[in-house]
Amino acid sequence: MTNKIKKIAVMTSGGDAPGMNAAIRAVVRSAVYYDIEVMGIYRGYAGLIDNDFIEMNARSVSKIINSGGTMLKTSRSKEFRTVEGRKKAYESLEKNNIDAMVLIGGDGTFAGADIFHQEHNFPVIGIPGTIDNDLACTDYTLGYDTASNTVIDSIDKIRDTANSHNRLFFIEVMGRDAGFIALRTGIATGAMTILLPEEDISIEDLIKQLKKNKTTRKTSSIIVVAEGDANGGAYEVARKIKDRYKHLETKVTILGHVQRGGSPSCFDRVMASRMGVAAIEGLTKGFDKHMVGFINDQTRFCRLADAVTGNHPINQEMLRISKIISI
Ligand code: F6P
Repeated sequence: MTNKIKKIAVMTSGGDAPGMNAAIRAVVRSAVYYDIEVMGIYRGYAGLIDNDFIEMNARSVSKIINSGGTMLKTSRSKEFRTVEGRKKAYESLEKNNIDAMVLIGGDGTFAGADIFHQEHNFPVIGIPGTIDNDLACTDYTLGYDTASNTVIDSIDKIRDTANSHNRLFFIEVMGRDAGFIALRTGIATGAMTILLPEEDISIEDLIKQLKKNKTTRKTSSIIVVAEGDANGGAYEVARKIKDRYKHLETKVTILGHVQRGGSPSCFDRVMASRMGVAAIEGLTKGFDKHMVGFINDQTRFCRLADAVTGNHPINQEMLRISKIISI
């Protein structure tokens, strides 16, 4: 082992995601395995600035692999966006003799880490944890699989009542800038239409589709709307449709934060465990300012800056087939 790293700190930051606890567990236990001391930082960058640290050992992370949320808590820190905030953060790391940090979070977390590294040259490694799946350099982010399963469970239930009443349901799922959850769950639940930030489907297009439904005798319909869709979200789309089709019975469900909770899926637990170990082994091999991605069932490292480029395109084949099978 070539490492000069004696002590690391781990934190979760940004929106929580199922699988974060499993990742913390893997980070802590692999650090202990490689004789590296480990501390947890509470509340992400906010706790780092406030010097809110806790010593951790293999037993501190017992019985958390199956729980959602994050035992270390999380935050979206405004102060860390300032030079002064990042200076305080660096001082906390010095006070606690930390040699490197493992950050579990999404694009905001990693963009902040990249600036922090430029200013303080402090070793950091990232694990992608966000239900949105909107990071480059990885096929999946932690929480995306679990959130997708939560969404399809809810939409299946809504379909039962939609069928019973011949109603048109608009279901809004998370994804401020990305339609990964919408596309995946829209396919899995047999949605009539999926509205995504990545694709321009106008209200007129939607109306054409509804007219076609009449001829194909579709009676109940589910429209999955990503939060960041250009038409303005599920309520707005439903209102515009209702304006044109007064006779249609339309209903809106915003799934909201229920999507972020719950016990992580098997896929998320295993990926979190593999990423956590890879992060520690990566640090010991000298990887710094990198994120552990997961590509073709293998952990892979890429530069943090490349992970946050916004260059994680929606799967065009999925988009194409979603239209074929929803006729
Ligand atoms: O975690 C990512 C995300 O779930 C986005 O899809 C959503 O827009 C946002 O977080 C909501 O964040 P908050 O809980 O801070 O309102």
